[in-house]
Amino acid sequence: MNRYSRLPATLTLLLTFTLAACQPISSVPADDEAAQPPSQALPPGPARTSSFDASKYARVYVYTIEEIDNDGRSLLHISYPVTEQAAINARMEELSQLYIQEYREIAAAIEKDYQNYKKETGTEAATFVTHYRQSFDVSVANQRVIFFDLERSIYTGGTGISYVIGYIFDRASGAELAIPDLFVDETYLERLAELSRAALAERLRREELASDLDWVADGTAPTAENFDNILFREDGTFLVRFDKYQVAAGVEGVVEIALEVDAIADLLKPEMRELLGVETDEEGKVGDSVRLTANVNRANSTLAARAVLTDRLSLARTFSAANGRLTDLAATNANWSGLNQADQTGAEVVDCNHLPCVALTFDDGPSIYTEGLLDILSRHQVKATFFILGKSARIQSETVSRIFADGHQIGNHTWDHPNLTKLSAELIQQQLHQTDDIITQIVGQPTAHLRPPYGAYNDLVLAVSGLPIIFWSVDPLDWRDRDADVVAARIIESPAGAIILAHDIHKTTVAAVPAIIEALRERGIHFVTVTQLFEPEQLVAGNVYVRQPDVPSE
Ligand code: NI
Repeated sequence: MNRYSRLPATLTLLLTFTLAACQPISSVPADDEAAQPPSQALPPGPARTSSFDASKYARVYVYTIEEIDNDGRSLLHISYPVTEQAAINARMEELSQLYIQEYREIAAAIEKDYQNYKKETGTEAATFVTHYRQSFDVSVANQRVIFFDLERSIYTGGTGISYVIGYIFDRASGAELAIPDLFVDETYLERLAELSRAALAERLRREELASDLDWVADGTAPTAENFDNILFREDGTFLVRFDKYQVAAGVEGVVEIALEVDAIADLLKPEMRELLGVETDEEGKVGDSVRLTANVNRANSTLAARAVLTDRLSLARTFSAANGRLTDLAATNANWSGLNQADQTGAEVVDCNHLPCVALTFDDGPSIYTEGLLDILSRHQVKATFFILGKSARIQSETVSRIFADGHQIGNHTWDHPNLTKLSAELIQQQLHQTDDIITQIVGQPTAHLRPPYGAYNDLVLAVSGLPIIFWSVDPLDWRDRDADVVAARIIESPAGAIILAHDIHKTTVAAVPAIIEALRERGIHFVTVTQLFEPEQLVAGNVYVRQPDVPSE
């Protein structure tokens, strides 16, 4: 039997033609005549492949596009759902097109920088890459409603973000639903605020969250914006996700807490209760619905696997002692401190326990813009910290010499910017030691700090690096937004104690620096190196430092 025999002949012809135009037709299941690959033409571009496949979910198919451009420096891998409902498909395709467009703009800007860099230095650099990946999952679905979790990550040589956004659709009409549509009224916001605060406060108490109570209170204030990313799961729990920086420092990325649906079930619309499988009694109320303590415990149990700092530290000591780098580190730290305290180069000697300070840090250099940056810093007598790549240091050794001579601090950002969490212990050490060797050749001493590329580290990285990990608390996203005013505006907001992330491979970032210095100085803030920011505390190998916590009020 023809699988489209139930359709009118003309429509059958049309549909068959549409399907035949896309491949592979054989993966379209027979019981689902409405699902078909998106027919809208994609904008012209680089080498592209696409596929249309069944998913593990009934009546949900996967459309995938892959693109490779700029000799492999720009990579796109994007999947989105196709269902029986045309309106849902149109929305998912529209969103995906927006994301493809955004990726293309970033990739084009980075490729332009790459070409300039190559032209001006005659060399290659590993940092000019753009990777965008998007996939999806179905968290909950029945005949009436479907919840998609769209996972997006975009990485460049500098840094990147990864996050999940939930999309909810009415399957009958194809209408997109928002979180408030799931609840009877706005009281759910108060409930979510209360539950979230309890869970996050507990995490703070356990020192498992780089934040404080004020930050948590602000980020969990009962507004729809604060609770716009909620993912329901079929096991009777739901995840509340807070954006990077919403409730904690950037090192935490997206902060997620798990709660039981029972805790909010009395506030859900009846059809949502049914979908999420919540039992109700005769009055439509959920018995014993708010179980704060139980929920907090549950949320925390999802964190059980997370290593706390003390564990990391002891692990790091074991490894460091084994390769003898802990002693080296103390000596190296002393060297850098000595340099700063001796004030050999006109650096301010500042006590950051009594005066407000920030540490400006620049990653991925040296680049063709670094000399210009050094001119600016020198003119304003500002000291900064440069996390440099060994590969680039070898090419621009004179710039590295000058960074050191000008009194700035130099940290390790690996040899050629790999994701260290994907490497063996041996390869991690090779990345760090090779970089240390070239820096020692140029300036006479090794680095005392590590900033892992992409901010990516795991217990192995912490253990074998033998260095303190310097993270950041302020990220102006200067790699993404190539606009000096935008970058300056974001950095100017930095609180005292901040470690500020920036990249001296972007012209726009360097152009933002004078305005940043002026505005922060107006607030009485001093610019110091990472070592100075924490003095007299000695930074410890295997620990992760996000910001200086003991700051005086401005
Ligand atoms: Ni980097």
